[in-house]
Order: sequence, then structure tokens, then C-alpha cells
Amino acid sequence: MGQNYDAIFKKYKPGRREDLIPLLQDIQDTEGFLSEETIVKAGTFIGLSTTKIYGLATFYDQFRFIPAGKVHIRICNGTSCYINGSQAVIAKIGEITGLAPGQTGRDGIFSFEIETCMGGCNNGPVIRVNDEYHTHIRTDHLPEFIKKLRFIVEND
Ligand code: FES
Repeated sequence: MGQNYDAIFKKYKPGRREDLIPLLQDIQDTEGFLSEETIVKAGTFIGLSTTKIYGLATFYDQFRFIPAGKVHIRICNGTSCYINGSQAVIAKIGEITGLAPGQTGRDGIFSFEIETCMGGCNNGPVIRVNDEYHTHIRTDHLPEFIKKLRFIVEND
């Protein structure tokens, strides 16, 4: 946790419960996930118990409580992508990586999560691999694609 982390808290006023979700979102955007330390700190800051914060945060599927893998895949499951087959993409990526959405592999290479619209609806299904968008995803291309990603990470 660095300066950025402290700067995030400075943007908010202590004790305002309505700021909890934006605060957690900001932290996750910076840190990549919500650590236990973060939850405790946010609880003290906002004035809510740690249990209450976990309860609220788990209600929103966008929060992660473990670090993402080196290759973090976001799969769009917004309406257009859904119509274009995102469910099959989610299932295939799960099958290849052996992970469920929100999990990170034990070797720390892959993690994936499901998101809503990524703004490329005419080109779905859309996925984002770290910061790179890939469109018109076909499930029969995924095994080779994931293999390449693994190769890149393992040989980096
Ligand atoms: S629904 Fe997937 S990019 Fe919009």
C-alpha cells in the first residue's frame, strides 16, 4: 500500500456510510483487490464493523478479496455479449483455467471475472485481458489463446 492508497482516503470524509462503495471501488482500482487490511481500515474510516463491510462488499460481485492473477481476464456478460454467446465463453474459460469467476489459480497465473457492458457491444463477445480488449471471441479459439497467454507469462 503506497501513497496512492492514502490519497484515496483523503478524497472522502470519515463517517459517511454512503461513501463506502465508491471508496472500496477506488481502492480496488488502485490495488487490484480488497485486502483484509483494507477492509479493516475502511471500516474504521467509515464507522462500520468489518463484518458489515464484508457483507456489503460481497453483495456486489465486482469486488475481489484476493489478488488477481498475472493474466486477469474480464469477460463481458452484458446484454449484447450475452446474445452473442458470452455464456459459452465464460464456461470455456472456466473449463480451460479450472477456475470459477472471482478465483485466482494457485500458480497465480490466471484469474477471471465477469463484467457488464464494456462498450463494444457490436463486436461481442468481448473480453479484456489485463488492459487489452479482444472482440468476436470464439470458443474454439480459446484453448490456443489461453495457452499462448500462459506461455508468455511463464517465459517472461
Ligand atoms: S454487452 Fe458486451 S460490450 Fe456491451
